[in-house]
Amino acid sequence: MTSASPWIPVALSADIEAGTSAGTLVNGEERVVWRDDKGAIHVWEDRCPHRGMRMSFGFVRGDHIACLYHGWRYDTGGQCRYIPAHPDLEVPQTIKVPTFAATERAGIVWMAPQGADATDLSTLPKTAEPVRSLFLDLSTNAALLAVTAAPPEGYHPVPGAPGTVTLQGSEVTVLIAAQSRDAERSALHITVTGDISTTTRRSLALWATDLRNRLEARSMEAA
Ligand code: FES
Repeated sequence: MTSASPWIPVALSADIEAGTSAGTLVNGEERVVWRDDKGAIHVWEDRCPHRGMRMSFGFVRGDHIACLYHGWRYDTGGQCRYIPAHPDLEVPQTIKVPTFAATERAGIVWMAPQGADATDLSTLPKTAEPVRSLFLDLSTNAALLAVTAAPPEGYHPVPGAPGTVTLQGSEVTVLIAAQSRDAERSALHITVTGDISTTTRRSLALWATDLRNRLEARSMEAA
């Protein structure tokens, strides 16, 4: 990834199962991340063009997602294909949800503006095992600084892509990718590669939870 990479991590791949969707916030904007029944991942604006209902409240049906409110159905390109109240209508091409480029790398779902070059992500491992996502009331920079200041025992930070921290252990490598939810809130998506055991994953998840608890306690003391 170059320093100007447009790719933003938005979820752990493992958290978006086929046929499900989840809403998230990216730089203050609502987005829906959903996976169709063939396993392909999609990231869209989280807003139905009809009356603005969140698409993340809708239902994934095969390779379509249907809005919860009036059931308008959208294909994987964001194009509305079916309006239940007007079943015979050929839906105008203009009824479309804005979509983003979406891909998966290192066990994480990434989004970027349409047309972005996914080779920007090529320095990351193709796959990885999920640890957990951490939601913090900190900017992405502050969150990543907190991670590098208190890595799990036996791990040390090594140079990595911008917006991420890589922690090297003796047998595994941990990737922490920061999503800016807004100026003061972030999500850290944590995955691991290498000789991974259940114990390793569990201890990393415990470290992450403990880090969040300590950061929350610190911000409460400061309040
Ligand atoms: S608001 Fe989505 S179908 Fe009406």
